[in-house]
Amino acid sequence: MKNLNQFETPLFDALLTYVNNETIPFHVPGHKKGQGMDSQFRDFIGVNAMSIDVTVFEQVDSLHHPSGPIATAQALAAEAFHADHTFFGVHGTSGAIQAMILSVLREGEKVIIPRNVHKSVTGGLALSGAVPVYVQPELDPLTGTALNVTPESIQKALEQHPDAKAVLVINPTYFGVAADLETIVEVVHDYGIPLMVDEAHGPHLCFHEALPVSAMEAGADICAQSTHKIIGSLTQSSMLHVREGLVNPRRVQAAMNLLHTTSPSYILLASLDVARRQMAMEGRKLMDDTLALARQARQRINAIKGFSCFGEELMGRPGFHGFDPAKLTITCRKLGLSGQQLEKILAKDYFIQPELSDLYNVLCTLSLGNTQEQVDALVEALEAISATYGNTITLHDPEEAFMEMPRIPLLMLSPRDAMHCDTTPMVLADSIGRISAEFLMAYPPGIPVLCPGEMITEDIVKYIETQRAAGLWIQGTEDPEVKTIQVVNHHHLQAVETQHIG
Ligand SMILES: Cc1ncc(COP(=O)(O)O)c(C=O)c1O
Repeated sequence: MKNLNQFETPLFDALLTYVNNETIPFHVPGHKKGQGMDSQFRDFIGVNAMSIDVTVFEQVDSLHHPSGPIATAQALAAEAFHADHTFFGVHGTSGAIQAMILSVLREGEKVIIPRNVHKSVTGGLALSGAVPVYVQPELDPLTGTALNVTPESIQKALEQHPDAKAVLVINPTYFGVAADLETIVEVVHDYGIPLMVDEAHGPHLCFHEALPVSAMEAGADICAQSTHKIIGSLTQSSMLHVREGLVNPRRVQAAMNLLHTTSPSYILLASLDVARRQMAMEGRKLMDDTLALARQARQRINAIKGFSCFGEELMGRPGFHGFDPAKLTITCRKLGLSGQQLEKILAKDYFIQPELSDLYNVLCTLSLGNTQEQVDALVEALEAISATYGNTITLHDPEEAFMEMPRIPLLMLSPRDAMHCDTTPMVLADSIGRISAEFLMAYPPGIPVLCPGEMITEDIVKYIETQRAAGLWIQGTEDPEVKTIQVVNHHHLQAVETQHIG
């Protein structure tokens, strides 16, 4: 597409034209520009938002077969994010990731993935029937969090599984830790297969040189981004970017169409259009301000007794090739509080809502929407909490315990087959030798010791019981207390793969 102007917002403009023409709505949705809606809700949200909540017709284009303003908006996004093709999505990055997997892999094909992938990846495996070969990410002993994967571990996996049809990595992680993506691209492309990237936490990367390299700029073939998580679009709106060559864009469109609603929200789609313009026009300046705020916040938090907030000083460790400073992992184990307790105190006593917490950490994400006053409020709250709770006991030190994870077990069934089998709940201790239909993990580090389709081993049961006794969270099963695990009813199943990369 020629003559693209990043200042333009073709989809948002088409919606404004529809509104300005005072078009009479004999189309769905039923609220008809808000007239038919509960008045309290309408007055709160505002009629402007309602007036662009329309459906598919020529003037506003079709997400399934874009040829008008959506096609142009996607072409503008492709240019801004250094892709050859961009697909807008309204099913979160989960939907984009599942479409990414469906467009690259077929039933029975092997894919190399980190063990700590988001559940949407497992959903993608279940939908496609692809078979995972897991690679362990590196671990950080202080925070208990997973870092990223190394090019060496990907290389080793490919040497052992040269028939793999693709590799998927998460970059950066939830905690902002980036892998050496450029080297990983080289390693993967040496095998002539595509690299897929879960770039949920990276739509801002290409707009500032101090941030880790973005997937598209590193040469990856396809990546899913949470535009809504990190930059200025609305929740659920995401983008899937494609580089021509190893991935067929027509197959990507078909996969997106398979998963998408036929009634996508134009409010969400338009928010992608304007988020792209905002970043294309002012992204560097906005990121500069965000990064300055984040660096200042990190420095101040590190000066508070009992708290620490890791950063670029970890660069160079295996699995820590780059870092997004806007992710503030506030480690509180030296204060004698768990991350969950700290999150509760911040939320209830200070009306400060972090993104998440685990046993040792609270994660606060900073973005272009945060202000100096908000950072001041966070730092002051942490200072007050340190003064109140300091000098209590340090939480037990589980370094050794969580570092020694059991070997990745034998995969007996593809995740899809395991999820479709009849299952029975079994007491964990009695389930050794059975095939798990569920995940099982301890937090931290939140890396599964069991995934659907894998054989339950004595080591795994022992590890889980030891971690439980040490006070770590055990999660993943339907049973909230994780006393029982769903196991596949059949015993006579053959292994589809016998070796993982540990
Ligand atoms: C690494 C990663 N990938 C994918 C997703 C899914 O994104 P969404 O919530 O937009 O579906 C998340 C959500 O937290 C995530 O952290």
